[in-house]
Amino acid sequence: MKKVITYGTFDLLHYGHVNLLQRAKALGDYLVVVLSTDEFNWNMKQKKCYFTYEERKRLLEAIRYVDLVIPETSWEQKISDVQEYHIDTFVMGDDWKGKFDFLQEYCEVVYLERTPEISTTQIKNDLKK
Ligand code: CTP
Repeated sequence: MKKVITYGTFDLLHYGHVNLLQRAKALGDYLVVVLSTDEFNWNMKQKKCYFTYEERKRLLEAIRYVDLVIPETSWEQKISDVQEYHIDTFVMGDDWKGKFDFLQEYCEVVYLERTPEISTTQIKNDLKK
């Protein structure tokens, strides 16, 4: 079984996220999503989520492409996640291109093209107008 992993916040789940998850799953048979906790988002990414970790997790678990959701609590956990879950392919959107090439020592690393013109930040800003 080929296992794929991806990381993110996935707040206010939108079609850009679904496109990413669909293409990530298509690279293998089992998709693990490592979902940033509220603390990690706030402390490390200065991002305040609209939905809580548990709400974001439930939404992701309802998506047919997602097999498992686990928490992201640090930048350093990627190597141990890849080893622990016997991951073949690490996937991120190309806004992260090159940033995780150090994982090539442990698994295949793929950056997928982002869906244009949609992001959680964009949704929040548009609704404020
Ligand atoms: N993603 C994507 N296309 C988009 C938006 C996100 O492919 N239009 C991907 C990202 O590249 C990442 C994953 O979805 O691999 C989770 O992204 P996340 O940062 O949670 O979503 P954004 O909508 O980019 O949120 P923000 O605006 O808060 O950065």
